[in-house]
Amino acid sequence: MLVPILTLLLVTSVFSSVDVRSRIDCYPDPDPSSNACSARGCIWEHAPEGSPTKTPYCYYPRERGYVLKSTAGQTYTLTPDSSTKNPFGTNIDNLPVTVKNNGKTLLVTIGGDDRYVPPVGLPMNPSTSSDSLTFKVTTVPSTNIFAFQVTRQSTGTNVWDTTIGGLLFAEKYIQIATYLPSANVFGFGDHVHKQLMRNLTRYTTWPMFAKGIAPDSESDLSTQNLYGVHPFYIAMEADGNSHGVFFLNSNAQEVTLGPAPHLVYRTIGGRLDMAFFPGPLPEQVVQQYLAHIGTPFLPAYWALGYQLSRWGYNSLDNMKAVISRVQAAGVPLDVPYADIDYMNAYKDFTEGDKWTGFPNYTDQLHQQGLHMIVIFDPAVEVDYDSFKRALQQNATFIEWPSADLVPHNIQDQYPMAKNTLVMLGNVWPERNTAFPDFLDPTNQTTQWWTNEFVLFHQTLKFDGIWIDMNEPSNFETGTYSSVGSNLATAHLSCPISGAAGQLDNPPYATRAVYDHSGEHLCSRTLCMLGKSARRTMNFFDTKSLYGWSESRATNAALRQMTGRRGAVISRSTFPSSGRYAGHWLGDNTARWEDLQTSVINVMDFNFFGIPYVGSDICGFHGNSSEELCLRWHQMGAFHSFSRDHNTKGTPAQDPAVWPSVAAAAKMVLTFRYYYLPYLYSLHYASSRYGGTVVRPVFFEFPKDSTTQKLDYQFMWGSGMMIAPVVDKGVSSVHVYFPKATWYSLIPINYGVVLTPGYLDVHAATDSLTPVFLRGGYILPRQGANTTTTASRKNDLEVIIGVDPSGGSNGELYYDAGDDLVDDIESHKRHHWLFSFTYTSTSAVFSGLCEKCSDVDIPPLSIIEALGYPATPDFNSFILNGNKVNINVQLSSYSAITKRLFINTPKLIGLRTIASPFTLKWNHSS
Ligand code: NOJ
Repeated sequence: MLVPILTLLLVTSVFSSVDVRSRIDCYPDPDPSSNACSARGCIWEHAPEGSPTKTPYCYYPRERGYVLKSTAGQTYTLTPDSSTKNPFGTNIDNLPVTVKNNGKTLLVTIGGDDRYVPPVGLPMNPSTSSDSLTFKVTTVPSTNIFAFQVTRQSTGTNVWDTTIGGLLFAEKYIQIATYLPSANVFGFGDHVHKQLMRNLTRYTTWPMFAKGIAPDSESDLSTQNLYGVHPFYIAMEADGNSHGVFFLNSNAQEVTLGPAPHLVYRTIGGRLDMAFFPGPLPEQVVQQYLAHIGTPFLPAYWALGYQLSRWGYNSLDNMKAVISRVQAAGVPLDVPYADIDYMNAYKDFTEGDKWTGFPNYTDQLHQQGLHMIVIFDPAVEVDYDSFKRALQQNATFIEWPSADLVPHNIQDQYPMAKNTLVMLGNVWPERNTAFPDFLDPTNQTTQWWTNEFVLFHQTLKFDGIWIDMNEPSNFETGTYSSVGSNLATAHLSCPISGAAGQLDNPPYATRAVYDHSGEHLCSRTLCMLGKSARRTMNFFDTKSLYGWSESRATNAALRQMTGRRGAVISRSTFPSSGRYAGHWLGDNTARWEDLQTSVINVMDFNFFGIPYVGSDICGFHGNSSEELCLRWHQMGAFHSFSRDHNTKGTPAQDPAVWPSVAAAAKMVLTFRYYYLPYLYSLHYASSRYGGTVVRPVFFEFPKDSTTQKLDYQFMWGSGMMIAPVVDKGVSSVHVYFPKATWYSLIPINYGVVLTPGYLDVHAATDSLTPVFLRGGYILPRQGANTTTTASRKNDLEVIIGVDPSGGSNGELYYDAGDDLVDDIESHKRHHWLFSFTYTSTSAVFSGLCEKCSDVDIPPLSIIEALGYPATPDFNSFILNGNKVNINVQLSSYSAITKRLFINTPKLIGLRTIASPFTLKWNHSS
């Protein structure tokens, strides 16, 4: 839309004009015009030059909305203002607004119990906080239109303020808008975006409806749907406090972020189920959110090892050759993958001809301490045993609502599907497929799915499960306008008009549909009128839950199949998916932009409670280059899910392809393996208490506003900061060091203190990724080997970042590594809380066991301290009152570098030592 020079005020009626920064679009659908706008009872007014990009010309008058009819305690009943029109349906009368508290989480629900609610079992747990949020009813200024404010108790800041107007609630068009206390908004997903902080200087609409589309990191702005749906955001208030808001809704939905600053949230079904989290620290916001949606599963220790995949090995021999050369190059490797090429004609639970010997090879890998993950797609071909058993076991599939809609030209080819309502589609298999109904409330579908895994696992002993195409994706979904018109193809076709077409052609189909010509809600997926949850729900409502429900079923299958913990990774996700699965960022491309956005998206997924996440290292589509692949390894080694993967038909990009990449991967992965006990402890903390693993720098320094602009630097927990190279042709990184003590962990200037502020840090291709230890923190680590199985046999160590102004603290979580976790609270473990303090004459390193079960744990043999201020007396070490002999040959202190290195084999037997323990020694300056 061009911005004209003159402002045209075409509606001069009783309505007051609204500032260009806070308009609520009354014409989000195509072809707005002055007349059409007036017909909706809205104001048509051009935006003067200099207005924010995409300022709507047709907007809602403030005087329209709902009015309060009655109040009963914390329930308010609303009625539409008589002059209010909803362009996409009739506003529902007697609309209930209920307000509840769940601990410190404030729950505001608009819409009655008759509305569809996603069956994900939320909320899970109440939250805690030092602050609270209060709900207050008010009106839009100078009107009697209902509005409300959510206010932070400690500061009086309105975190939400719906006096901006715009509340609408029809059967298939629901809208709410609010002013925001600041433009510093993070989260919402699944989207590719180029800055961590969302851009609220313009109007931007972000859709949320699970879609199997490759992310586009190349264009400046790509507002397309992606694989998952995460209607959750975090906002930083001006004073550094933060809060979060979550919308529990699984319908096609979108949010417009705008310059007031404000947001407009729209959905085409369900209701408005909003949860407000008071923080006030950003990390606490995520903890409160995860109390609500459930904390993430703890991956097996081996699943934090390096993983190597590709689509297009084509045969077991090729796969073996690649794995061998990577191992020969000395690159640590824990998990080889098999993509769909291992299957027989892409049928789940089968093995292709060129894969004879796959089970033996998997056994050999196990003997070397490696683990195997293989792929499964949800859709099963309807002419082989897996489908047959599904019918026998009374599993359900996504179905047509009635027999008259079944396309017999497709259905009748298959004796087993012929007389069923199963909606047939097409994915990788040669013939038509059916989509399991993982929301089946009777559990018979999950039981069948589990049985298939158990059966297949009897031949192939894989350890983890990769679930793909679960948006769910369907190839070449067509449409037809009258029954019978377009059924002569082997592909699924969905009605888009008439009674049957209502769900695929709703009054408002969302901007993501309108933005692409020929697009429908059913594009690339199944028809919206499909039935799920054993015919009790519409696919229209549940589609975005497909990946979530498959993750839940597959997690159950993995448990039963192996009796081990393993890991599941899923392409499509929804709030609370993290309880069951991790995620890879999907089909990126071998471009620098994709490396950059993957840093941002991994932080997003940590907000979403899915910390086991990473990108396809080196890029999935396209040809990777030596430099890109090298830098991607240097970055990806710091993502919890660290896997190189690419598509078929492109050149190999495993690290052994280029000696320089192999060397860089070996160096950075050896560092990763060394610090894996820290990464694993962070995952444990996230599983137990909620919160992030990989987090933005501003999470740790919320009062330092510069940190909110750091897109490519990130933290491992509180104690380690990583600043990877994400640009071509550079050899240093411009790193921001917030006010703290930072120690370099890069070999070239190991232990050196870096001054706060911006600094150019050396980052050559043959050196380690810039990585820094934060003073005040103690990180556990363990000698690295080329598999985690071997590393776990080495002794444990700690590194202390000495804080010149105080003590240091840290934690170690250690368990059997791959045993099932039934309950994270009582899980068998060694969980140590370490601390370090010192005076001018002595120092104390102590440990307190939070829970120490009968679990094998290596001894702690090395204590390293950076920034250590005095010369230790190695003769003065006392452990729990008894003198200990420090191995002075292996130990050292340098007054120049201020590095203390205490190395004494079996110094502290963590398995047997009494808790708490103290190790004390003297020093002199
Ligand atoms: C799409 C997935 O996103 C990709 O990772 C995989 O290689 C292909 N499907 C083939 O299974």
